[in-house]
Amino acid sequence: VRSDALQRTLEGVHVAISAGGTREPLDPVRFIGNRSSGKQGYALARVAAQRGARVTLVAGNTADLATPAGVDLVRVGSAVELRDAMHKVAADADVVVMAAAVADFRPVSLSGHKIKKTSGDPDPISLTKNPDILAELVSARREGQVIVGFAAETGDETTSVLDYGRAKLQRKGCDLLVVNAVGDGKAFEQEDNAGWLLSKDGAETPIPHGPKTQVASAVWTRLPPACPSLSR
Ligand code: CTP
Ligand code: CA
Repeated sequence: VRSDALQRTLEGVHVAISAGGTREPLDPVRFIGNRSSGKQGYALARVAAQRGARVTLVAGNTADLATPAGVDLVRVGSAVELRDAMHKVAADADVVVMAAAVADFRPVSLSGHKIKKTSGDPDPISLTKNPDILAELVSARREGQVIVGFAAETGDETTSVLDYGRAKLQRKGCDLLVVNAVGDGKAFEQEDNAGWLLSKDGAETPIPHGPKTQVASAVWTRLPPACPSLSR
């Protein structure tokens, strides 16, 4: 069908997408995690595959999601595992999307055995910073590679969600940033999403509230002008 053919705009393009939340282990049975469901990253993978892309999906912890048809899945646990997997996949990707909710910190030490309850007060958990995978991928960027980041923001008394997004785009140096408002029942674990697409060239496109596949379509539709290998 003609309309299908027109939608296959990612034919011949390899996209690498991270999704879900990382789990930072404390001992063999415990971890520090977050509420990411992976739904937005999976929706991006599904829509990219439908548009003809070769898709590698690197997934941390997610809700019970079916692997989209035609997508290669790589499973990871911690942020450090996610980083290793993304560097490997990105080396061969035309587009890289960091939709994963990466833990900013991990426990300094990982106990080889289950930490036992003792009679006194528990030890505090010491944390150390995880690598900023998106920033690393931007530094290691291949010629013509397009890099997309996400920003989950609540905003606060002094700064709006959108202003935090603008600052994050500058700081991260990616080509496109998908800004979502989170908290208050928004985005995390939800079927719907909304926000803005902020482009390095200054363009700001609002994404109307809708299913995460619609947000995914908005991302893939916005990409071609930024990516030489997409505008052939
Ligand atoms: N990200 C990453 N590595 C990290 C933390 C975040 O690659 N260690 C990526 C996320 O996948 C997302 C983007 O960076 O694409 C922004 O994540 P976010 O948590 O919103 O931003 P941070 O830079 O961690 O800043 P903060 O949490 O303080 O807002
Ligand atoms: Ca963060």
